[in-house]
Amino acid sequence: MQYKVFESANLMAHQVATLLHQKINSSPHRFNLAISGGSTPLLLFDILASQYAQKLNWQNLGVFWVDERCVPPNHSESNYGEAYSRWLSKVNIPAQNIFRMQGEATPEAEAQRYGLLLNNQLGQNAGFPQFDLILLGMGDDGHTASIFPPQLHLMQHANPVAVGQNPYSGQNRITLTGNTINAAAEVLFLVTGQNKASLVKQIAHNMAGCLAFPAAHIKPVNENVTWYLDSAAASQLR
Ligand code: 6PG
Repeated sequence: MQYKVFESANLMAHQVATLLHQKINSSPHRFNLAISGGSTPLLLFDILASQYAQKLNWQNLGVFWVDERCVPPNHSESNYGEAYSRWLSKVNIPAQNIFRMQGEATPEAEAQRYGLLLNNQLGQNAGFPQFDLILLGMGDDGHTASIFPPQLHLMQHANPVAVGQNPYSGQNRITLTGNTINAAAEVLFLVTGQNKASLVKQIAHNMAGCLAFPAAHIKPVNENVTWYLDSAAASQLR
C-alpha cells in the first residue's frame, strides 16, 4: 500500500488542497470529485474556502458525495450540510456542479436515483461510474464510506450506490459501493490520529484478520490508491 506521512493533519490538508488545485485547474474535462464526511475533511474544506476561493477554477469541478447520513441537509449530521457551510457556500462553484445525496429522501429510492445520476454524469470503468478522485476516511472500526464491517457485502454490491447502516446507531446511510470506489481513477485515504494507528498498521502489512475491515478492500482496479497519514496515524508503521 502506498502512503505519505505528514507531520500534522494541517500539513496533510494543505497538501491535499494543493493537489486538488493542480488537478482541477489542469483537467481537460470537468473534474469529478467525491468527498467523504466525518471530521478529517473539515480542515481541507476550511483551507479550500479561505485560500483557494480565487485560485481554483471552480467551474471545472463537480462535487459528489461518497456517502450521506439519512437526515435533512440542514441537520447537524449532514455531510452535505457540513461541506456546504464550511466550503461550497464560500466559493464560486456553480450550483449545477454540486450533486447532493438527498439524505431526506427514502433511502432505497435515493440510492437508485444517485446511481442513475452517476451513470449519467460520469464515464464508466469496469462497469461502474468512474470518478477522477475519491477522498475517503476510515473509522475506528475500519469502515470507509458508509460500508461498515457487518455489511462487507456492500463492497461487491451490483449497484453503484446502496443503502448502508451505522450498526451502532442504526442510522441509515446512502453510500457508494465498493465497486464504484474501486472504479475510480484515483483514491486518497485521509487518515489522522493515534486511534487509527493500529488499523493502519494491520492494513498496511496485510495482517491476519485485516479483511474484516472494509477499508482493507479498497483496491482500485488501476491500483491508484494512496493513504495520506499524519504522524500519529502512521506511528505504528515500520
Ligand atoms: C461519514 C464518513 C465516514 C468517515 C469515517 C472517518 O459519513 O462519517 O464518510 O466514512 O470518513 O467515519 O471519520 P473521521 O474523519 O471523523 O475520523
